[in-house]
Amino acid sequence: MAEQRAVLVTGASSGIGRVIALRFGAAGWKVAINARRQARLNEVAKAITVAGGEAFVAPDNLTEFGAHERVVNDTLEHLGRLDVLVNNAGMGRFEAVEAVQDDSYDDQFKLNVWAPLAMVRAVVPHFKQAGGGQIINIGSIVGYVGIAEGSVYSASKWALRGLNECWREELYPHNIKVAYVAPGFVLSEFNGRTEAPASNPDASWAMVPDDVAHAVLCIATQGPNSDIREIVLQVRDRSP
Ligand SMILES: NC(=O)c1ccc[n+]([C@@H]2O[C@H](COP(=O)([O-])OP(=O)(O)OC[C@H]3O[C@@H](n4cnc5c(N)ncnc54)[C@H](OP(=O)(O)O)[C@@H]3O)[C@@H](O)[C@H]2O)c1
Repeated sequence: MAEQRAVLVTGASSGIGRVIALRFGAAGWKVAINARRQARLNEVAKAITVAGGEAFVAPDNLTEFGAHERVVNDTLEHLGRLDVLVNNAGMGRFEAVEAVQDDSYDDQFKLNVWAPLAMVRAVVPHFKQAGGGQIINIGSIVGYVGIAEGSVYSASKWALRGLNECWREELYPHNIKVAYVAPGFVLSEFNGRTEAPASNPDASWAMVPDDVAHAVLCIATQGPNSDIREIVLQVRDRSP
């Protein structure tokens, strides 16, 4: 029987990352989960283990120096291997350009661009040693188009897509695959939204985290000669 594969998901305490972690667990993977809110991570880990999976909680703030190496090394120590990194942690702040706050650039670029870069820096030596790996970056549809009052957030997701392209070229000779997943509007806690469909007026048309998790699982389980570059998920109803 093939050895159980292992995935590390950042931003797994809520929304898209939480459901990605649950889906990997249900599919029989060992799952390491990161975010800042440890109590939330413990709940996700419990759900994975109750369903028969194996989970490791790696709480850390990915905007702090040193966190990335710590999370990757602790994961390797506890799970014994790492096959897939999902760079999902992210934030968005929506402001008219004349109202952009002084810290908006630093906050969003630190988490949405620098943190994935630092995670990739930490994981690549292990992937090279293991003979390969898969990196999945959760970008956004606004990494392809502009959005009014979302200029800094959109620019951060364009930047992440730029990194994605560079890493693809740099890392494929080492059998390390890199993919960009670009969702449209998803019900989550993103930008102060509420995830609960019952109380959410967007529930009739928006996507749910499971839609994104489906795409991520598809990439993680592709065949050895396939190298999915990007998956863009538009909402079916484009009228809102
Ligand atoms: N929802 C959408 O419509 C949408 C559309 C396109 C793309 N996306 C992208 O999808 C990803 C997930 O967002 P979401 O919608 O699931 O929102 P969410 O529910 O707010 O999830 C964000 C996750 O990031 C974690 N996080 C935030 N700051 C962190 C930090 N400094 N260090 C470590 N983890 C941190 C949060 O956990 P803690 O607070 O516990 O740290 C949380 O688990 C983001 O990259 C977002 O840009 C979302």
